Amino acid sequence: MSCYALFPGLGDFEHVLTVVGLLFVSKTVLQGLWILVRNVRAHLWSRLWNKKLGETYGKWAVVTGSTDGIGKEYARELARRGMNIVLISRTEEKLQKVATEIAEEFGVETEIAVADFIQGRPVFENIAQRLQNKDIGVLVNNVGVMLPHPMEFELASERDMWAHINVNVATVPAMTKLVLPGMLSRGRGAIINLSSLAAAYPIPLMGIYAATKAFVDFFSLALEWEYRGSGITVQTITPGYVSTNMTKFSELVHRPGLFIPTARQFVSHAVHTLGYASCTAGYWAHGILGYLVDTFLNRWFFMYGNYLWNSLLLHNMKKNQASRQR
Ligand SMILES: NC(=O)c1ccc[n+]([C@@H]2O[C@H](COP(=O)([O-])OP(=O)(O)OC[C@H]3O[C@@H](n4cnc5c(N)ncnc54)[C@H](OP(=O)(O)O)[C@@H]3O)[C@@H](O)[C@H]2O)c1
Repeated sequence: MSCYALFPGLGDFEHVLTVVGLLFVSKTVLQGLWILVRNVRAHLWSRLWNKKLGETYGKWAVVTGSTDGIGKEYARELARRGMNIVLISRTEEKLQKVATEIAEEFGVETEIAVADFIQGRPVFENIAQRLQNKDIGVLVNNVGVMLPHPMEFELASERDMWAHINVNVATVPAMTKLVLPGMLSRGRGAIINLSSLAAAYPIPLMGIYAATKAFVDFFSLALEWEYRGSGITVQTITPGYVSTNMTKFSELVHRPGLFIPTARQFVSHAVHTLGYASCTAGYWAHGILGYLVDTFLNRWFFMYGNYLWNSLLLHNMKKNQASRQR
């Protein structure tokens, strides 16, 4: 049947436009349905089954950056599901406090490893010893730093620059290298990598942070592909703003709300998606933001929008500081 029979009242040009329009609408609808199905699976279907993570992946979970924010909540949530936890962060007293709290609240074993990841390669020898002979089922590559607030690169300290590279970038493959051989030999395990919505495109005034998160994104997605069918789950998480120490420079991104969950709210959603989504925002409202960015923003609009947004955050922060000093 020719399309003339479909739309008898239209001329040649209108026919072409109509067919192109129909194809575009069909593609958008199918894409939307596919995303909907994936999100229903990750956020709703997954809640019907309370996966026994220890049995599925292995007895111990290792969480980097686990004394605060998202990492601490991952440690708690995995312990709630019966896993023993190795907590790794840089401050010993905080580590001991969190380890004791988790052991008492959930009745699991906890161990700590003090490591300042900014120091790079040497810290992994000590961590390797701590992890030796343990059935590591889950690794959460969570630790991350961000500039204290949006700023031009010239104003960032040298320490912050190396922290981004050593903590956000180097730690992810280095920790993976420590646990992957054991997971492969047991044929089971999960590696969860904390990237960010900021990895979607470059972000002016947060350039180094977004670039390091793009590294995590790429590394994690490639790893997921490489180990399909090996029994190892690799998950990439790309959250939007979460109310933690990292966002406390501005009330606009720190005050909890629908689009800014607390770390506890965020992780209680994100943990459910493990095994149901290989790449997810982790939290449903951030999933909507990610969809809008992917579908409606090209690189230029995203960068310009984020430049304006970060300039606003900076302006707002300075105004608040000035009014506090008065
Ligand atoms: N918060 C957000 O809006 C957001 C959004 C997207 C993605 N993320 C990502 O989520 C992850 C967690 O962020 P968060 O907001 O939970 O961070 P956070 O609240 O600032 O907590 C950071 C944790 O990492 C530890 N840490 C920091 N520097 C370290 C170092 N050099 N060596 C060892 N441990 C170190 C801290 O330990 P101490 O207690 O000893 O300082 C703390 O336990 C990061 O990868 C971040 O990029 C966060």
